[in-house]
Amino acid sequence: MAALVLFGGGGDLAMRMLLPSLYFLEHDGLLPDGLKIIGAARSDETRDEYVAKVRASVEGKAKADDAWSEEAWARMDARLDYLPVDATSADSLKPLKDKVGDGGVTSFLAVSPSLYGRIVTALKDAGMAGPKDRVVLEKPVGRDLKTFLEIDDAVAHAFRENQVFRIDHYLGKETVQNLIALRFGNTIFEPLWNNLSIDHVQITVGETVGVGDRWPYYDEYGALRDMLQNHMLQLLCLVAMEPPSDLDPDSVRNEKVKVLRSLRPITHEEAERVTVRGQYVAGTSEGKPAKGYEEERGQPSDTETFVAIRADIDNWRWAGVPFFMRTGKRLPEKRTEIVIQFKPVPHSIFDRDDTGEVQANRLVIELQPEEDISLSVMNKRPGLDQRMQLQPIKMSLSWGQNDRRAKPPRRRIAYERLLLDALHGDSTLFVRRDEAEQAWKWVDEVSEAWADGEIKPQEYVAGTWGPDAADMLMARTGREWNSGDA
Ligand code: BG6
Repeated sequence: MAALVLFGGGGDLAMRMLLPSLYFLEHDGLLPDGLKIIGAARSDETRDEYVAKVRASVEGKAKADDAWSEEAWARMDARLDYLPVDATSADSLKPLKDKVGDGGVTSFLAVSPSLYGRIVTALKDAGMAGPKDRVVLEKPVGRDLKTFLEIDDAVAHAFRENQVFRIDHYLGKETVQNLIALRFGNTIFEPLWNNLSIDHVQITVGETVGVGDRWPYYDEYGALRDMLQNHMLQLLCLVAMEPPSDLDPDSVRNEKVKVLRSLRPITHEEAERVTVRGQYVAGTSEGKPAKGYEEERGQPSDTETFVAIRADIDNWRWAGVPFFMRTGKRLPEKRTEIVIQFKPVPHSIFDRDDTGEVQANRLVIELQPEEDISLSVMNKRPGLDQRMQLQPIKMSLSWGQNDRRAKPPRRRIAYERLLLDALHGDSTLFVRRDEAEQAWKWVDEVSEAWADGEIKPQEYVAGTWGPDAADMLMARTGREWNSGDA
């Protein structure tokens, strides 16, 4: 019988994301038969106390999604168990090993990454890193290439690469996978998906939340390492990669790693021109007063809570097509989107409309707040004007466009997909060692350039789209960020 062990099983990630995801999978009948789910943490509580806590955290979420069922909960309850352990000690893991048996165990490390090295060694020594076993690692694995390799070497010592599942929860988001479907399940986009037709690409991950109580972690990392090194570079890879020959893990990840290797290094001389660091000061967020980062932190800090970067991919397909990325805390909206901006028509035969020139086509892949893919195309403005006038209209490719009466599917937590894949041993949507390595390499160059050039974060008022320099980054090239209303 197989088992899933959640180390850090009483922590924030487990309670907020992992256990609710497991409940939803249970509800939909998707969990493997006989799978045991065991919470493991230092706290000395009983199984019943743990299960009560899990229920409390799952029930509200499930009810809000209209997916609560006593029957499904009873099935989940029957799978659940809890064991107090010190995961860094093989001796302490022995009772856990007895509980999980020999059916294969997936160990999910939802604990501080500083413990990963010692935990994987203990798992190996306790006999929980055999050929049928797997390990799932949450980000951040390391804070630069050197520390990533230190941790990952310990992991590689205990598990083979095909047993290691490095999570980037963005890859579990429905629209991210839909991007793969859009690109490789259609013929109409791929011939245009290159520097002949595309002007530039934008990736925005805007968050309204501040750092708040997370500063002890965040202050060490900042937006570059927390968001760009992983989530944003993963999105960039999926937009930019060549068509893989198969959807199997290695075919997809081989193509992604080629993109990362083609990223032009950001030199120290260029850093000031192609990167922007920002940090929020007091302002307003969603109509309420919001503190500045340093006030939350309680002392001065040079950590960036906003980053914008122009990346260039030096290969045949993307030569001359800049990829602009920006992300930050305390921005005006929670908005995550990828914008593929096509080139304008080479010559316009139409009158200029009220808003300016004929607008170039734009494909917007929205991940949050809505999951939607839309294409803006120019259309004739209806009417009998003597001179034909155009207007942009949006074609939405979202689910439900074909049948508006159909109930939309429940919006899934990204971890549902990823947990299921890890339990089935499919690592296509997980990050391979060489991908993480290349991403750290590129990001390290940026942070070294910042340190060398003493490039400090510029202030931006909470509730705005980052420092003015982020707009300048685009404006200097005659472009602008998508405002969201186009
Ligand atoms: C996490 C970061 O990986 O992603 C957080 O550590 C960030 O700082 C979060 O808030 C954003 O995830 P999502 O799914 O809400 O966009």
